[in-house]
Amino acid sequence: MSNRDDFPADFTWGTATAAYQVEGAAAVDGRTPSIWDTFARVDGAIADGTTGDVADDHYHRFLDDVELMASLGVNSYRFSISWSRLLPHGGDTVSEAGVEFYRRLASALLERGIRPYATLYHWDLPQELEDAGGWLARETADAFARYARLAVRELGDLVSDWITLNEPWCSAFLGYASGVHAPGKQVGTTASHAVHHLLLGHGKAVAAIREERPEASVGITLNLYSTRAASDSAADVDAARRIDGLQNRLFLEPVLAGRYPADVLDDLGERDWFEAQPESDARTIAEPIDFLGVNYYSRHTTAAGEASPGTVSANPGSEFVRFVDTSAPRTQMGWEIHPDGLVDVLEQAHSYAPDLPLFVTENGSAYEDTVNADGSVDDPARAEYLRLHVDACAEALRRGIPLRGYFCWSLMDNWEWAWGLSRRFGLVYVDYETQQRTVKSSGEWLRQFLAGEARAAA
Ligand code: FCB
Repeated sequence: MSNRDDFPADFTWGTATAAYQVEGAAAVDGRTPSIWDTFARVDGAIADGTTGDVADDHYHRFLDDVELMASLGVNSYRFSISWSRLLPHGGDTVSEAGVEFYRRLASALLERGIRPYATLYHWDLPQELEDAGGWLARETADAFARYARLAVRELGDLVSDWITLNEPWCSAFLGYASGVHAPGKQVGTTASHAVHHLLLGHGKAVAAIREERPEASVGITLNLYSTRAASDSAADVDAARRIDGLQNRLFLEPVLAGRYPADVLDDLGERDWFEAQPESDARTIAEPIDFLGVNYYSRHTTAAGEASPGTVSANPGSEFVRFVDTSAPRTQMGWEIHPDGLVDVLEQAHSYAPDLPLFVTENGSAYEDTVNADGSVDDPARAEYLRLHVDACAEALRRGIPLRGYFCWSLMDNWEWAWGLSRRFGLVYVDYETQQRTVKSSGEWLRQFLAGEARAAA
């Protein structure tokens, strides 16, 4: 059980969102479509048929949302910049209106003592860049670095903390292998080329940001999973190795150690392609960073499975792996609740770079919320999830891991990608008819915790 005093006084406490999930104003002030605007219009792609056209209308309501954050007592906010709002059509010309929006947001945050952490790429590639090959094309890495440079040039006096990519595993494998995310392609193990171009874009962006603002703090956010084998059988252990490889090591090793894990490239059958890339890529990708962001939600239990021909896997090269449904408690997403796994993945990241500061840049849970007659929303399960994971952060600190912050996903309910508006992760309830915001009891718990009035873990 921990309380706020178990954390350093300068610990970062924040909430997180992403542009397409909250901003709305999709066609306002010159913003042009991203791959998600396009994908959301594909029949059957989004569970409830909605788009992010309006979402939380944060573009028009950000001042109120900053007040909400202040009322929770957080000292930081992680948001993402919409590439095509800043650079319409993904070109090289900055939109004045786009710059203005993010400058006003950052200024409002700073006025409230809330430190802005800006993510440059939370999955919303400008459509024109997808049409030119998307992340399967090497040129997209250069386009990303140009965008990063311009974003930092325009906003770097207000924003000093930058995250290049959010969860490149999702961009590459959900976007180009399983196709359940934009751009909805299914190119099998070739999707791993997108991994390489995303990471290359990350490295080039880090270098560009440093040139532009040497004092900026720059990192990348990876979604890491605690992974275990369903049994000690060699086949199940190997299944866990594959999934740990594809989910975690394929990203941690190139970024932090300057090499790809050979076993994973072999699983993918893509070793020749990777070896044919310019040798200097490895150094570019491993450009030193100031921190690593870790998004953690759940644990995977894996077993050897049977290849089912024709199945499209979100982990290409793992057709022989089965994800086992244990009896462990799960959230509405079906994701196992396993707070110790947060410590595991932080340990794993820490093992590659012992001095590198770490941040939990996302952690949270979806549950069905009901609104009481008096308008209040009680969400004890979400509050419990939060308590348990905050407690895991305290445990990581006790183990000597340089964890510097925790961002809860999410500030408020928002447009949850392929689930549309049908999954709620917020500490704040959003009525999508009226756009009214109501702090849930989980948000109230966080407020009390940050005020020193409540302890983590029940
Ligand atoms: C993460 C995403 C975030 C949100 C949460 C629930 O994978 O980064 O945008 O969708 O999951």
